[in-house]
Amino acid sequence: VSRVPRFAAAAIAAITLAASLAAVAAAPRGAAVAYPEGYREWTHLKSMAIVSQEHPLFEAFGGIHHVYVNRKGLAAARAGGPYPDGSVLVFDLLAAERADGAYTEGARRFIGVMAKDRRLHAATGGWGFEAFEGDARDRRVVKDAAAQCFHCHQSRAANDFVFSSYRR
Ligand code: HEC
Repeated sequence: VSRVPRFAAAAIAAITLAASLAAVAAAPRGAAVAYPEGYREWTHLKSMAIVSQEHPLFEAFGGIHHVYVNRKGLAAARAGGPYPDGSVLVFDLLAAERADGAYTEGARRFIGVMAKDRRLHAATGGWGFEAFEGDARDRRVVKDAAAQCFHCHQSRAANDFVFSSYRR
């Protein structure tokens, strides 16, 4: 092995490291919303089905969805907010399959997540917004939480930006 390739390899390694450090510095540390492990064991708030073009959100949110809240956020969900830091809400969207006069749950389209941390997510009402495609824990959908999510949730400012509440 000659000295030149070895030097080149070391230089490439250094550049790669510098690039990944720059990428880490660019994202606000800890701002990423974690995948909500175990949310199917949380409290179910409500469900809804959007099944035709008559609904304006059919393209984006068509299907059967269920909304869950973790233990930290449950009291606030019952009261209509405000939610303490650590509260997490999940919007679990499944395809709606129609047959024999019934709609049944199909494949998961995505889960939407709202995670409250007033310090990390001050610009979006204290909520971090993320969506995970299908059943994946690593296929993140949200590039711009303000434009893709918060602009709509903003209409619910009186309820801490949350639409759902606990259905008895
Ligand atoms: C055009 C409006 C709109 C946009 C955009 C939107 N949402 Fe929502 N979202 C809603 C509505 C309406 C509900 C309530 C659904 C129901 O009543 O069952 C909701 C519910 C939710 C919930 C359950 C908690 C709650 O507020 O009821 C989460 C979590 C959520 N959305 C996450 C997201 C994420 C993440 C994005 C961006 C990828 C997003 N939403 C974009 C309208 C929107």
